[in-house]
Amino acid sequence: MSEPTRFAGLSDRRSFLTRSAAAAILPAWFVQECVSQDKPAPLSSPNERPHIALIGCGGRGRGIAQEASRLGNVIAVCDVDTKHAHEASKQFKGAQVYKDFRKLLERKDLNAILNGTPDHWHTLVNLAALKAGKDVYSEKPLTLTIEEGKRLVAAVRESGRILQTGSQQRSDPRFRLACELVRNGRLGKLTRITTILPAGPYRGPFKPTARPAELDWDFWQGQATAHEYMPERCHLWFRYWLDYSGGTLTDWGAHHNDIALWAMGLDRSGPETVEGKVLAKSVEGGFTAPAQYEVEYTYANGVRHRCLSTTADTIFGSPERGAKPEALHHGVKFEGTAGWIFVTRGHSEASDPELLSRPLSSPKVRLYASNDHMGNFFDCLRSRKAPVCEAEIGHRSASVCHLGVIALRLGRKLRWDAAKEEFVDDREANGYLAREMRKPWTYDMI
Ligand SMILES: NC(=O)c1ccc[n+]([C@@H]2O[C@H](COP(=O)([O-])OP(=O)(O)OC[C@H]3O[C@@H](n4cnc5c(N)ncnc54)[C@H](O)[C@@H]3O)[C@@H](O)[C@H]2O)c1
Repeated sequence: MSEPTRFAGLSDRRSFLTRSAAAAILPAWFVQECVSQDKPAPLSSPNERPHIALIGCGGRGRGIAQEASRLGNVIAVCDVDTKHAHEASKQFKGAQVYKDFRKLLERKDLNAILNGTPDHWHTLVNLAALKAGKDVYSEKPLTLTIEEGKRLVAAVRESGRILQTGSQQRSDPRFRLACELVRNGRLGKLTRITTILPAGPYRGPFKPTARPAELDWDFWQGQATAHEYMPERCHLWFRYWLDYSGGTLTDWGAHHNDIALWAMGLDRSGPETVEGKVLAKSVEGGFTAPAQYEVEYTYANGVRHRCLSTTADTIFGSPERGAKPEALHHGVKFEGTAGWIFVTRGHSEASDPELLSRPLSSPKVRLYASNDHMGNFFDCLRSRKAPVCEAEIGHRSASVCHLGVIALRLGRKLRWDAAKEEFVDDREANGYLAREMRKPWTYDMI
């Protein structure tokens, strides 16, 4: 990565922060701190630009590859849909096209991969990349199951590679400020957290259709149970099927529940109990993931955490047409004995504005300061330090969401042992920690 590019990235970060201050979005004292924190790791060579490959060239994959192209060279793209792969190759100046990620990972000139595949592919691709000696930026939710997460965390430790989870709210100063205030007692004793997530769709039934010629549907399904092709199971819509994901509880929960754990300092741990209620039934033959729900977690610190779906926001997080500003919009609300703070993308508020604006004098807890999620990944490629959302954090944030989905599926209260990562005396619930993989996919073949 060359100096000019590196510092162009840095000045982008600074101008974002300065604009934030000008618009009074964040308190000025905090913006000043953010600017001084933005010191990139030293370059090992001034001309060094890491070689990157994108695996999974859908909407998000191409978005993160665009971000990565500020700081590295995207030399290869891979997708089981050849149309998506060729579109990405055009976007990244003729990056070489692959269909099979295992072939791509044989390349010796590759430093890191970006994983933009659907959730049911994250772990196998990530494990294969680590084994091939590549660093990884993987989209959230990091895993499909808790068992996958345990294996991934172990593989990252053993390999010494870098893994950044794509829960980018970790690098949004607004969320960090809220977490840091909570951690330092600005709200007195923290009593409740409410994470509000966009509700999922209740559509269906869907009909099988001919698969597009450019798509290898069997490869796309991978470890998941085989089904006839229908567009609603595939691109974008996969997240509303339990075969491939957990619905908005894992999709958005990997962002907002991640913030809840961060604010409690429990992002390498988890809850003690979980229970939940599905609020409306899915349509027979349609999407299977819970779309509207209420989940409640309790923790050893006594905090009660409710995770609710809202129909006031679209699945993309923007307000539904006609939704009132005062409706329940997605975000995270922290309540304590001294007031509350609500934080979401682009906005935060508090029961008393002073709770947000008063500087933190001699705080006991300082959180990992990253103001650019992809930039932090590239910094860590050089420094070899753990990124802001490293594997264990990404795994635990996904786990809390998976626990919610399991409680919704079982419809009863479950007790969780976060140290052992298993349900307490509950064989049925423990049966949901892993999934049987469809042949030929196994952990061992990677
Ligand atoms: N961090 C964020 O804010 C954010 C936003 C959107 C999506 N995401 C995450 O990104 C991931 C992708 O979401 P999307 O909306 O871009 O989905 P998408 O369906 O648009 O793209 C996924 C792509 O992966 C390809 N693919 C599937 N299996 C593959 C395999 N084995 N090898 C190579 N390519 C394969 C698909 O053909 C498709 O092109 C999801 O896990 C999602 O949760 C994160």
